[in-house]
Amino acid sequence: MTKIKACIAGVHGFVPDYVLTNAELESMVDTNDEWIQSRTGIKQRHILKGEDKGTSHMAIKAVEGLLQKTNTDPAEIDLTICATVTPDSLFPDTANTINAGVGAVNAWGFDLNAACSGFLFGLTTGAKFVETGTHKKVLVIGADTMSSIVNYQDRSTCVIFGDGAAAVLLEPNEDGFGVQDEILKGDGEGRQYLHMKAGGSRRPASAETVANGEHFVYQDGRPVFKAAVKGMSNTVTEVMQRNQLTVDDIDWLVPHQANLRIITSVANALSFPMEKVIVNIQNYGNTTGATIPLCLWDAQQKFRKGDKILLTAFGGGFTWGASYLTWGYDS
Ligand code: COA
Repeated sequence: MTKIKACIAGVHGFVPDYVLTNAELESMVDTNDEWIQSRTGIKQRHILKGEDKGTSHMAIKAVEGLLQKTNTDPAEIDLTICATVTPDSLFPDTANTINAGVGAVNAWGFDLNAACSGFLFGLTTGAKFVETGTHKKVLVIGADTMSSIVNYQDRSTCVIFGDGAAAVLLEPNEDGFGVQDEILKGDGEGRQYLHMKAGGSRRPASAETVANGEHFVYQDGRPVFKAAVKGMSNTVTEVMQRNQLTVDDIDWLVPHQANLRIITSVANALSFPMEKVIVNIQNYGNTTGATIPLCLWDAQQKFRKGDKILLTAFGGGFTWGASYLTWGYDS
């Protein structure tokens, strides 16, 4: 019997209109364009504005574009996975709101929280449902409204993050194209370096937690930087080795967009030429769950059927990993 693979049948993204430039940040905190560009590679990021708009707003726009582009009736969607650390609310989950917003009346869904590795974890999770043959059309979305949890008085974090959403449609493929393999990790060893201090069950929101600014992203950047380079390089190497792949065999490396220096360090550690590395951090900053699918969206015109693609991510927890897939269509 032919083994079913889960193949990406289309990708679409959405970023809000408002562009927060480095120049505008200069007027908000003690920073400057030269520092931001040289230390992070970021020139601008998009910010979601407007009353009562949350992550589902951007995800719905991305999914609507995806359904249109792939000629998919929303009623055909079986499952929606939304990777996010900024759900519309703690419950109900954002995936359900997305299903309602796009008319996915026959789908079930859930949110997946693995910080910046969320899309990678979601891709594997979605792929398993397709591979078993029980699900034919699965949406995997990476979406985050980081502006809702960033402290715009903290220069070490507010320059980094941005808002955005992007989605892929997974479908069964019997010709061998699609998700091939992955190594995913989450060891909890780095929890103290990147987290939100309050707002969960251990430290619920109170006047004190709000006054202390405990509902913002807390990050100690240096240990995160070091662990990110090591974690992404190691898992990419391991996935390549066990699939007998060399750098020459790989067409594209799509890394999580946290910092241009992290991306170039990973590429150097793996001896990957930068021409094969997808980079768009200059336009969006770090959009957490959305970085990898936004890269796929931006770069899709370059992809050809059969291209071998490696995805790699690293995020709070720490969570990290690498996935190997083959592209299923000429874009
Ligand atoms: N503008 C100007 N100066 C800034 C600044 C800003 N926006 N942010 C920090 N600085 C200053 C610091 O205060 C520090 O000054 P000091 O030496 O006088 O104390 C100096 O720049 C160096 O700070 P440091 O934190 O060591 O800088 P860095 O080179 O490590 O860069 C990050 C900071 C956050 C960009 C970097 O550590 C990073 O990218 N880390 C990983 C982030 C990440 O991947 N996060 C998401 C997880 S996926």
